[in-house]
Amino acid sequence: IREDPQTASKYIADYIIERIKAFEPSPEKPFVLGLPTGSSPVHVYKFLVQRYKAGDISFRDVVTFNMDEYVGIPRDHPESYHSFMYKHFFSHVDVDPANINILNGNAPDLEAECIAYEEKIKKAGGIELFLGGIGPDGHIAFNEPGSSLKSRTRVKTLAYDTIIANSRFFNNDLTQVPRMALTVGVQTVLDAREVVIIITGAHKALALQKCVEAGVNHMWTLSSLQLHPHPMIVVDEDATLEL
Ligand code: GLP
Repeated sequence: IREDPQTASKYIADYIIERIKAFEPSPEKPFVLGLPTGSSPVHVYKFLVQRYKAGDISFRDVVTFNMDEYVGIPRDHPESYHSFMYKHFFSHVDVDPANINILNGNAPDLEAECIAYEEKIKKAGGIELFLGGIGPDGHIAFNEPGSSLKSRTRVKTLAYDTIIANSRFFNNDLTQVPRMALTVGVQTVLDAREVVIIITGAHKALALQKCVEAGVNHMWTLSSLQLHPHPMIVVDEDATLEL
């Protein structure tokens, strides 16, 4: 528990850097990092970029896999997760573009895209550390309430609550929010050797409580983390209100 979103984010950024350094990545043995979008991780990216610019860390031998992407908006749409990642992180660090993996929400065959993504993760040796956020309904990536805890990368229809929550990025116009997304599954996240989740704000307090104090439940998909051998949830004070 950290005081505010800034200090929670700094803690996570420093932690990720520590983990990458301890791993001693090389071209033959890159560090495989799972990454999220959303407003919560923005400061994490800011601190990672700061430390890169200070010469503290290189991302040259880091392979990234993003959690999710909307279906049906162009890749260069300002609110696509591709755009988000380049804007907040990839454009500012030395990550090799060939090492960046983001689902293609405009692939001609979405199912094939998802299957290929899982295979790519496997081929990369699995994900070392998956960073994630949650929605106010406790969803991880776009694994909306009711998602199977064994789910893998697939097409998902967004819950109405998520459409409302994300409309703030689309001029508060519900009709502009995509209805579907490609997302890694709950099991894809659980397969990572380590999972780090950032949760900030009073609007996520109920989700945090359900996810850590209630039982494992597919209606609050983050609760699946209780089954993981090496999870860490970093929160600010506001997110703890229901604990
Ligand atoms: C979307 C993403 C999630 C993210 C969530 C929370 O639903 N698919 O991965 O955790 O937004 O976003 P925010 O941090 O903006 O609340």
